[in-house]
Amino acid sequence: MNNFVYDIPTRVYFGEGQIKHLGEELKKYGQRVLLTYGGGSIKRSGLYDAVMQQMAEAGLEVYELADIAPNPRIESVRRGAEMCKAHQIDVLLAVGGGSTLDATKFMAAGALVDHDPWDFFNERWAPIHRALPIVTVLTLSATGSEMDCGGVISNPDTQDKIGRMAPPLLPKASFLDPTYTYTVSQYQTACGAADMISHILEVYFTTEPDLYMLDCFMEGMLKTIIKYTPVAMAEPDNYEARANLMWTSSWAINGFVNGGKRHAWSCHPIEHELSAIYDITHGLGLAIVTPRWMKYCLDETNVDKYVQFGVNVFGIDPSQPAMDIAHEAIDRLSHFLFDTLQLDSTFPAVGIDRTHFATMARKACGGKVLPGFKPLKQEDVEQIFEMCMA
Ligand code: NZQ
Ligand code: ZN
Repeated sequence: MNNFVYDIPTRVYFGEGQIKHLGEELKKYGQRVLLTYGGGSIKRSGLYDAVMQQMAEAGLEVYELADIAPNPRIESVRRGAEMCKAHQIDVLLAVGGGSTLDATKFMAAGALVDHDPWDFFNERWAPIHRALPIVTVLTLSATGSEMDCGGVISNPDTQDKIGRMAPPLLPKASFLDPTYTYTVSQYQTACGAADMISHILEVYFTTEPDLYMLDCFMEGMLKTIIKYTPVAMAEPDNYEARANLMWTSSWAINGFVNGGKRHAWSCHPIEHELSAIYDITHGLGLAIVTPRWMKYCLDETNVDKYVQFGVNVFGIDPSQPAMDIAHEAIDRLSHFLFDTLQLDSTFPAVGIDRTHFATMARKACGGKVLPGFKPLKQEDVEQIFEMCMA
């Protein structure tokens, strides 16, 4: 195994009613707060009122930026960075799902530089040395943005969707109250589960040395998602299910399971190209791509990892030939995503045709090779896309 540094300094307030600590947490960083949120779910659920009440009681001065879209746009980031500068904001409070959290992270960084925030993502790749403090209140279990230092921003003008990580973007504190996810639709609950599964599989399937303990941890998280997502879809206010999914979303991607692996991810760069052009939900794109990617990468040299996955996560009979177990494991994953979670299973079902295959594949590979579990060239990614057509 590789050496690694474990450092996740986000303070997590987990559980029902933890919002009562919001005021004291924000006041650590100053008086002037920029509250950010999406298209209105927090108003419909009553969370907006609860958050405003906490901030009023703490005597904070609040500015608001609303309407952050799913697959958040650079335009929202620009607006937020300008607001931070204009109002001398001390701390940003993001209330929502991954899109709101991601956009807010780059507002916090953009507030402290003179250039356009898109320079964090384009060929300039402007450094992110500093950011204003960020606090989050999570409303959707999926991305792990509440406990990681990354984010993904879309630019419709260039049809790009690009991720960036930088330690200053790590939230100072995150409020994880599972009851805030009771209003998440069945569809978004399912997409969130697919996203979490992919975060885990991107790390689980690697060529780098595995730490047995971390593999067991990842298998446990996968089993948790498989057990509790259908429960949360059937009973939206099942606290136990929502709590299990919420904490899993954070731990799937907060840096812990990597265990020093330096590998690159595969399905995420591919999916981001789908979202960039077709604006589909991130988790849905991952659900369609992931089983095909697994099938495409499978060979005699890596089959053991598939066997481990199939036996430990799905309980497949280990006495069968390895290749049979591997294929059954992929089938079981597909069954979970497309039958149990009822997600669309093909590109045509979500409006994707072959028009942009070459462009998307080239961009996913960064013009060269997409490293990862199996290095993929443009033609490999195009073949994976082709597998997604039926
Ligand atoms: O905008 P509102 O009105 O809030 O509605 C949202 C949105 O329509 C709704 N929603 C959120 N919480 C809700 C709710 N509806 C009812 N009740 C609630 N409690 O759900 C819809 C989707 O929200 P969004 O924030 O877009 O979803 P998600 O959390 O899945 O975030 C997806 C974004 O995160 C990026 C994705 O690429 C995508 O852009 N990712 C971020 C990562 C990170 N920071 O590390 C990693 C991920 O791999 C991912 O790439
Ligand atoms: Zn993801």
